[in-house]
Amino acid sequence: MCGIIGVVQERGEVASFLHQALKRLEYRGYDSVGVTTISNGEIHVKKDKGKIEEVHRKLNLDDMPGSIGIGHTRWATHGIPSLFNSHPHFDCSGKIAVVHNGVIDNFMELRKELAEKGHHFESETDTEVIPHMLEDAMKTGMDLEDALRLVTDRIEGTYAIVAMSTSDPEKIVCTRDGNPLVIGQKQGANYVSSDIPAFLPMTNDMILLLDGEIASITPDDVKIEKLDKRARIEREPIKISWTADQAQKSGYPHFMLKEIHEQPDAIRNTLRLRAEVIEEAAEIVKSCDRVYLLAMGTSGHAAISGRHMFTSLTGIVPTFELASDFSDTVCDALSEKDCIIAITQSGETTDTISAIKYAKRFGVKVVAITNVVGSSVTRLADHTIITQAGPEIGVAATKTFMVQLTALGLLVLAVGEKSGHRKREALQKKRAALETMPSIISEIISRNEEPARRLAQMLYDAPSLLFLGRGISIATAEEGALKLKEIAYNHAEAYSAGESKHGPIALVQDGYPVIFVAPKDETRNRLIGNIMEMKARGARIVAVIERNDEELRTLSDDVFIVPESVEPEFSTMAFVVPLQLFSYYMAVKKGYDPDKPRNLAKSVTVL
Ligand code: G6P
Repeated sequence: MCGIIGVVQERGEVASFLHQALKRLEYRGYDSVGVTTISNGEIHVKKDKGKIEEVHRKLNLDDMPGSIGIGHTRWATHGIPSLFNSHPHFDCSGKIAVVHNGVIDNFMELRKELAEKGHHFESETDTEVIPHMLEDAMKTGMDLEDALRLVTDRIEGTYAIVAMSTSDPEKIVCTRDGNPLVIGQKQGANYVSSDIPAFLPMTNDMILLLDGEIASITPDDVKIEKLDKRARIEREPIKISWTADQAQKSGYPHFMLKEIHEQPDAIRNTLRLRAEVIEEAAEIVKSCDRVYLLAMGTSGHAAISGRHMFTSLTGIVPTFELASDFSDTVCDALSEKDCIIAITQSGETTDTISAIKYAKRFGVKVVAITNVVGSSVTRLADHTIITQAGPEIGVAATKTFMVQLTALGLLVLAVGEKSGHRKREALQKKRAALETMPSIISEIISRNEEPARRLAQMLYDAPSLLFLGRGISIATAEEGALKLKEIAYNHAEAYSAGESKHGPIALVQDGYPVIFVAPKDETRNRLIGNIMEMKARGARIVAVIERNDEELRTLSDDVFIVPESVEPEFSTMAFVVPLQLFSYYMAVKKGYDPDKPRNLAKSVTVL
C-alpha cells in the first residue's frame, strides 16, 4: 500500500505541496519517497530510501522548479527499500515518469521482453516496466494517454498508475484497477492521489476515478473516459466534509477501527500471493521431520490456530513454542531435519529473531511469515512469505493477524497436497472456502459493529472476563482476551473450556462475564457442557455463534453472529472479528486511545 500524489497547476511551484501531501500519506508506507517535476521541458527528480523528513533533510524536497509534479511514498513489495527502488520510475530517456501503487503480477515476463528489446532497468520493482512500455508505445507516435491505454492491455494485477511526460508537460494521466485514485478539483489546479487527505487542505471537491477508467488532468480540465471507450464521462465532484486531520484515518476515528475494516482487502491481497512463494515454503516444511511454530503475542495466536490447520489438513502435528522460551524448552535437542515457521508481523521482534538465530546453530530450516519486506526476519530465514496487510498503524494487531492466518491457510493447503493426508477434492473445497473469507469477514464486520458497541456499554467496568473455547477456538479466545487487555485494560483470561472447570470456574459468580467462542465444529457438544456449568454458577454468557445456531442463541445472554459457511480450519479468522470490535468499543467507552495502548509498542526489540 503506497501513497501517490500528482498535481498540475496554472502557475507557481508545486514542490512544497508535493512534500506536504506525501507527509499526509505517510501512513500508507514510509520506507522511501520520491518526487519529480517538469520545468521548461526538463525533468527534475529527488528520491531516496527513508522516511519523508529524513529524505527532505538530505535533499530539500521543497526546492524543485515546475508547476506540475508527481510524488510517491513507498511501502516496499517488490525489491528492498533503496534509492533505485524508490518511485518515480523512468523510461530509458528519462522523459516519462511513473508512480504506481499495487502489484504487476506478470512483470517478470514483461521485463524480459523489454530487456530483449534493449531497455535498461535500474530497479528491482515491478513498476519500472510501465515507463518502458509507455516509451515503446510513444515511439510509435501515440500520446501519453493512448500509450497508457495500451499498457493496461498488457499488465496483469492491481494498480493505480500516475504518469507524466516532457512531451506534454502540462498533463498528468492516470488509471486504476483494484487500487484507489481520487481526483481533487480547484480553480486553476487539479490533483490526483491514492487518498483524499493528500489534497484536502487545497480542496474539498473530489471526483472518484473508477476501475477501468483513465483520466487526463490539466490545470483547468479533468477528462475521464473508459479505458476501452473514447467517450467523455461527466462526473460531478463530491463535496467532502472531512477535515484534513480526520482524513488521515480516512474518516475513521481510530486507525484500529480502520484496520479492522481493511481486513477483507488484506486477506484478498494475501490470497493473491504467487503460488511459487507458498510452494517453496511447503517444500521446506514437508522435507523436515519436526515442525515448530514460533511467535509472540498476537502472532503466537496465529501460530496456535495454524497448528490446528496443520493437524487437520496435513497430518503433521507441529509444536507451538513461544519464541521467548524456545531455547529453554528444546535444550539443544534440534537438528538439520527440523524446521521453524516463524510468524512476526513486524519481522523485528527480538524474541523471535533470537530464537531463529539459536535454531540456525543446529542447521534448522526457517520459513518466515511477516508483513514487512526487508525486515530482519527476512534476512535470517531460508524462505519468507510476505503477507499483504499494508502498513498497520494501530499498535494492537488486527489485520496483520488476519493475513497471518491467511498465509498459514495457504501454506497448510500446499503442504496438505504433498502429504496426501486429505483427498485432493477435500483440499480443493477448503481452498475455495478460504477464498470466500474476504466477503464473509465484510459481513461479520457490518453485522457485529453495533452489537459490540452495545455490549461494551454494559460490560466496560467488568473487573475480569473469561474467554473460553475448545480446539482451534482456544487460539481465538486467547486473541480476544489479549485484545481486551491490551487496549481496554480489563483483566481477561483465556482458557481451554475443557480446562476451565479445573480452576478458573472458581472466579465465577452472579453476572461474571464468560465469553464462549462456539463454532459448530466437533467441539460443540462438549462446549455446551461447559456453558451449562458456567450458567449454573450465574455467569453472564456471551457467545460468538453461527447464524443458525438456535440452541446456543437460547442458552446465551448476548450473542455475536457469524455466517454458518466457515470451514472449521479457518474459524479463527471469522470468530475473532466480533471480539476485535468488542475490545475496540470497550476501550473507546472507557476513554482510552485504542491506537496507542500504554506500555506497548508495535514492535518489541528487546529481550
Ligand atoms: C508486541 C505487540 C503485539 C505483537 C507482538 C509480536 O508485543 O504489541 O501486538 O503481537 O509484539 O509482534 P510481531 O511483530 O512479532 O508479530
